[in-house]
Amino acid sequence: MEILSTLEDIKKRCSELKKQGKTIALVPTMGFLHAGHVSLITKARQLADIVVVSRFVNPTQFAPTEDLDAYPNDPERDHSMTANAGTDILFEPPAAAMYYADHATWVEVPELAKGLCGITRPTHFRGVCTVVTKLFNLIQPDFACFGEKDYQQLTIIRRMVRDLNMPVEIVGCPLVREEDGLAMSSRNAYLTKEERALAPHIRKGLLHLQDMAKQGECSAQKLYAAFAEYIADNIPAARIDYVSMVDEDSLAPLETLKDRAVVAVAVYLGKARLLDNILISK
Ligand code: PAF
Repeated sequence: MEILSTLEDIKKRCSELKKQGKTIALVPTMGFLHAGHVSLITKARQLADIVVVSRFVNPTQFAPTEDLDAYPNDPERDHSMTANAGTDILFEPPAAAMYYADHATWVEVPELAKGLCGITRPTHFRGVCTVVTKLFNLIQPDFACFGEKDYQQLTIIRRMVRDLNMPVEIVGCPLVREEDGLAMSSRNAYLTKEERALAPHIRKGLLHLQDMAKQGECSAQKLYAAFAEYIADNIPAARIDYVSMVDEDSLAPLETLKDRAVVAVAVYLGKARLLDNILISK
């Protein structure tokens, strides 16, 4: 595996590969990899001749009050995981290299970014879209793989690519879970042993909503109340940031379940803010 850290090097290498007729699949990450990232790399390996993984903790998607400085980091482990998963090129630029001091250009999809995580993280998706656009411009991937755990992120990136005619195919990959059902996330590292033992109840709460929908419950308010009650009973220390039933494409909030919908949640537990989602249907 080749490791490149300057913008000039990655740009030059990828443009040489494209000139040779090679296809490229990109897996953008912020490092501290887990099996969910490995599944994205495995998918990328099936799609293209060359797999590029970026490893960059993007400062512009963190608000000043958030965990940028504390974000978990283990370069050696990440290097061996990316290499073992079949990565050809690892791109890991230093933060100062990715943004000019007077960076002034942003890519935004405000309509899709205003709800769900956007309520408590109003500048987050603008940072994500901007860094993903920069990575696309540097690497020129034919495919880019993103996990369905970050459902809003995936939907926003698909829309950005469609609206701006970016020449890349976005590939959504299934959420990967721990054996007990907890959605894999680098931020699970923040959980204490006790919190980690209770965290799978987030998934169980969502499965409970799926059961309610199958039994005929269509009211979003009743589903939200049931999730809140389930969490209060099973993880009293947790605080729900949001639970929201939305249209799977537009992310518009739904009052009533018609056919199918995504229920997305964010739950604070100790120092972690945990995301999960489920596609429910009648
Ligand atoms: O999902 C992530 O890890 C990040 O938001 C991404 C897509 C790598 C952009 O920094």
